[in-house]
Amino acid sequence: MDNLSAEVGRFCMYTYIVFYSRYGNTARMAEAIAEGVGEVNDIQAELAYVRDTFTPAKIIEADEGWKTSKDLLEARFPAFELDKMKEADALIMGSPTRFGNMAAPLKNVWDMAANLWMEGSLIDKIGAAFTCAGSLHGGQETTLLSMYLPMIHQGMLIAGVPYSEQKLLSTTGGGTPYGPSATVGAMADQPPDETELAIARTLGERVARLTLALKS
Ligand SMILES: Cc1cc2nc3c(=O)[nH]c(=O)nc-3n(C[C@H](O)[C@H](O)[C@H](O)COP(=O)(O)O)c2cc1C
Repeated sequence: MDNLSAEVGRFCMYTYIVFYSRYGNTARMAEAIAEGVGEVNDIQAELAYVRDTFTPAKIIEADEGWKTSKDLLEARFPAFELDKMKEADALIMGSPTRFGNMAAPLKNVWDMAANLWMEGSLIDKIGAAFTCAGSLHGGQETTLLSMYLPMIHQGMLIAGVPYSEQKLLSTTGGGTPYGPSATVGAMADQPPDETELAIARTLGERVARLTLALKS
């Protein structure tokens, strides 16, 4: 970041989009949400890819797709910073569905956030979530709810996707009122489709708009 961007960044409101992704689909959803935030003036999106620091390298290296994707994602996205989560005006968290739950790197984000809870840093901030899953009814909604539980403990205000977004009524694409979702297949090789990405943009735009309204 050059000096001017750093200066601007300090004064601009931002939505922190914090995600983990193994094969890149959740990352694609995160980018669509950032595009939605970008449709609103006076607030920015900042993306952060939570690094997996505890899976042994030999397990990652045994899966060529995982290894390649990890290197690409780490090169493309800034790493998660706890201070940025504290300073953000809103938080949107994204995880691949893991047995109907959030992935461990994101659970670890919350395990590091006890001080934020003690300080009340996240109270009255908007929180939202998104996910990707392999199968159509694979636990998308429980995964979204799993990310909301710590947000509620932190005093955050949860924003889902209202049915004014009529793409929620699609019988083919994913997306839920609990938050955007994408169904990406057993091998994670079917990227989010246009309906799923559109619902993700809607959430980004909504969180940005609600955040500005709350702050004004
Ligand atoms: C340990 C593990 C557990 C998973 N559990 C589920 C599950 O409960 N339901 C499901 O539909 N997909 C499940 N999947 C598939 C992932 O959700 C899917 O690969 C992921 O959403 C792809 O996102 P990514 O490209 O961002 O990594 C699981 C995958 C792994 C590795």
